[in-house]
Amino acid sequence: MPKLNENFIKLNENYLFSEIAQRVNTYTAANPDKKVIRLGIGDVTLPLGPAVITSLHEGVDALADAKTFKGYGPDFGYAFLRSAIVSYYQHNGASIDIDEVFVSDGAKSDTGNITDLFGADNAILIPDPVYPVYVDTNIMSGRTITYLDANEENNFLPMPDHNVHADIIYLCSPNNPTGAAYNKEQLKAWVDYALTNDAVILYDSAYECFITDETLPRSIYAISGAKRCAIEFCSLSKTAGFTGTRCGYTIVPKELNFASSTGVALSLNAMWRRRQSTKFNGVSYIVQKGAAAVFSAEGMAQCRETIKYYQINAGIIADTLARKNMTYFGGVNSPYIWFKCPNQMDSWSFFDYLLNNAQIVGTPGAGFGRNGQNYFRLTSFGSRENTIQAMERLETLL
Ligand code: MLT
Repeated sequence: MPKLNENFIKLNENYLFSEIAQRVNTYTAANPDKKVIRLGIGDVTLPLGPAVITSLHEGVDALADAKTFKGYGPDFGYAFLRSAIVSYYQHNGASIDIDEVFVSDGAKSDTGNITDLFGADNAILIPDPVYPVYVDTNIMSGRTITYLDANEENNFLPMPDHNVHADIIYLCSPNNPTGAAYNKEQLKAWVDYALTNDAVILYDSAYECFITDETLPRSIYAISGAKRCAIEFCSLSKTAGFTGTRCGYTIVPKELNFASSTGVALSLNAMWRRRQSTKFNGVSYIVQKGAAAVFSAEGMAQCRETIKYYQINAGIIADTLARKNMTYFGGVNSPYIWFKCPNQMDSWSFFDYLLNNAQIVGTPGAGFGRNGQNYFRLTSFGSRENTIQAMERLETLL
């Protein structure tokens, strides 16, 4: 009989967004005549930009001709895409090498898969609330987690406590779900903490393209010393609408070396190479062709237009909450609006209340951690029409 990974028993029955989808499906099956507006999962609604579409078509055409056909691609991504990512980083004030770029099917997989590189007995620090994948994947691998409280008192930006030891620190900035973003000084404090404690930072920058405040860092590598202590995960899901197309990238610097138990220096870059070449066969050529177009001048300009559209939606949601005298966070350097549930409701009760009375789907804060118990997240990734309609319903209801 197989011995099962019983850590799975410690997980909630469903992943957060699967749980929401299940509840919404039950509701729509029982109420087929009601129009439900989904502002829950951060899934984009605008189409891919024209530059990306043209490039995807070129990718398809290449595969139709024996002279240009591609089978298995290079393990870590085509050079044309990896070098485009290197240039993008240069533009954002960070210097990385092409061998440090690993193209993947998205930040969700990589932030989960990275746990393969670490032993079971690390001290793990994870902010609360945060994207649930970090917590779930560490629970799956049997690790003990220490939570970093993010709350209104610290502007949802917990800072290092030198009395707490950590080996692995997860940071997400701009944060999912709160929208809070670290400035350079705050991020420098984390980098210094990691260097002093010989720790590694797993930095999720999936929402960097929503940063509007030019003084905020878009990459942890804009901070000196970060290449000696941080891995960065990024995604084209929100930057360029690739939630369904799937493409992201992870930066594992070559300076990231830590001693093994026998004192031998191990390179995380070499370990990730080994891991990816064994367990992953890369992103399709067609998708990488489309992804490379994101980084062209034309592609970037088109992405900026799309992001602007979502930022206007965020403003519409924020204005509605403000008119209702509700305190909200985020929505400026982030596509998410985070607010306290009215009347001390807990977040799952508010979820049910909104769904049943206004047919609006949001994300209960409890799904992101204990500190989200009484908070709620709305996404700005809906269509303009649905966002306006949802806010009209919300304004009437509250
Ligand atoms: C979210 O809604 O938090 C994200 O869309 C989930 C994800 O990126 O996997």
